[in-house]
Amino acid sequence: FVHSKSAQELDSVRNGAVAVDEAGKIQAVVRDAANADDALTQALKETGWQMDNVQITRASESEFYFPGFIDTHIHASQFPNSGIFGKSTLLDWLHTYTFPLESSLKDLTKARKVYNAVVRRTLAHGTTTAAYYATVDVGATNLLSDLCLSAGQRAFVGRTCMDRPGFNPDYYSDASPEAAAEATLATIEHINKIDPQHEIVAPILTPRFAPSCTEESMSALAKLQKQHNLLAQTHISENENEIQLVAELYPDSKSYANVYDDCGLLNSKMILAHAVHLTEEEAMLISQRRAKIAHCPCSNSSLTSGAARVRWLWDKDIDIGLGTDVSGGYSPSILEAARQALLVSRHVATGAVAAQQERCKLTVEEVLFLATRGGAQVVGLEDKIGGFEVGKDWDAQLIGWTCASDGDAPATNGHATNGTPAAPRQEEGNMIVFGWESWDDIIAKWLFCGDDRNTKSVWVKGRLVHARG
Ligand code: GUN
Ligand code: FE
Repeated sequence: FVHSKSAQELDSVRNGAVAVDEAGKIQAVVRDAANADDALTQALKETGWQMDNVQITRASESEFYFPGFIDTHIHASQFPNSGIFGKSTLLDWLHTYTFPLESSLKDLTKARKVYNAVVRRTLAHGTTTAAYYATVDVGATNLLSDLCLSAGQRAFVGRTCMDRPGFNPDYYSDASPEAAAEATLATIEHINKIDPQHEIVAPILTPRFAPSCTEESMSALAKLQKQHNLLAQTHISENENEIQLVAELYPDSKSYANVYDDCGLLNSKMILAHAVHLTEEEAMLISQRRAKIAHCPCSNSSLTSGAARVRWLWDKDIDIGLGTDVSGGYSPSILEAARQALLVSRHVATGAVAAQQERCKLTVEEVLFLATRGGAQVVGLEDKIGGFEVGKDWDAQLIGWTCASDGDAPATNGHATNGTPAAPRQEEGNMIVFGWESWDDIIAKWLFCGDDRNTKSVWVKGRLVHARG
């Protein structure tokens, strides 16, 4: 198995094994034992655990276990628009593509189709935890919570709060700050009913972003946050026109970050998406408040928002995770988000002063940290998920690949050889291992060449939630 030791270092255990109990918790981990099964039996005996209560999990030669991915920012309701954005940028994209689709999901038949698809697809890509934006509609938001729970995907589900007249379209908004708070409470109570301990599904307060909300609704959500001890999520400083608009709408606040701070929302339970154009002062304030950041590189490139400076934020000791930001981002895959985070960091480097250029570049290890342990910090679950330690939940994905076949002839793989050109097996994918690669090379190949064809099985809290046929 492979997981992050730190942001700079992966821990790759070749001859290890993990024992998971019936509650989905890791009970024993054995590293590099000549005979891992015996070592595991011994480790379990010492902790007083019976072998028949646990499932022993070991990977084969061309496989490894990796912690499940954590998507710290995804709009479940926008999934059908993946890839559809033309040349738009944030504000016209919202009005042209996004609000009409989100509004249409008050039709619960349509919402079920969309939410089923997004939960299945993200699970297939190894996303074991997602911080979802739903829509303004209470019924559809509750449906998303139901579907996450039944599929077994760990999820934070947020009803999108949008009560500011003027910015939001008439056909898609909350009627008043009071109505917004009341509707939000209804979605919290629904989750409290279906998953009282928030073992799989938890509510998350979701003021869409400052232009969509009023100070009244944001302050009401801050109050709900304290009463119910919940996470919150919003967008910040994504796009230049958006920042200009926030300055006009909130003349009494010192900055965009101060708008959220003035409403009581800038705290350690807030996930801020994008954070592309923050000022030095805003980043310092975010750091002081211990608020978290969801880095969404695919979206930031697609909507021409800009390139967020991960190293610059990390230097201020801010916790960062990755977000797909479907459908600002076109891909539901956190592996893709990690790859793009690495590439975008190269663009940040080319724009930096010479002395900083090398430092700006994120490594394979760093982006895989963002995808797992970084994300766990962002959603406040660093003690529960993100790595393989005793006491953590078994939220994991089994990654497997194809080894190149011997000989000069193209691999036939059981396909016709009588004159028909041999086709590669459909499940083969682009990650081909030749046998001479180091373990680090294999991980790098997975990051750059892998996709959901390599994600063989996925577990959340010990439950198998996806298996490739
Ligand atoms: N800002 C406000 N709403 C949205 C949204 O749906 N997506 C993105 N990327 N930014 C936003
Ligand atoms: Fe977003």
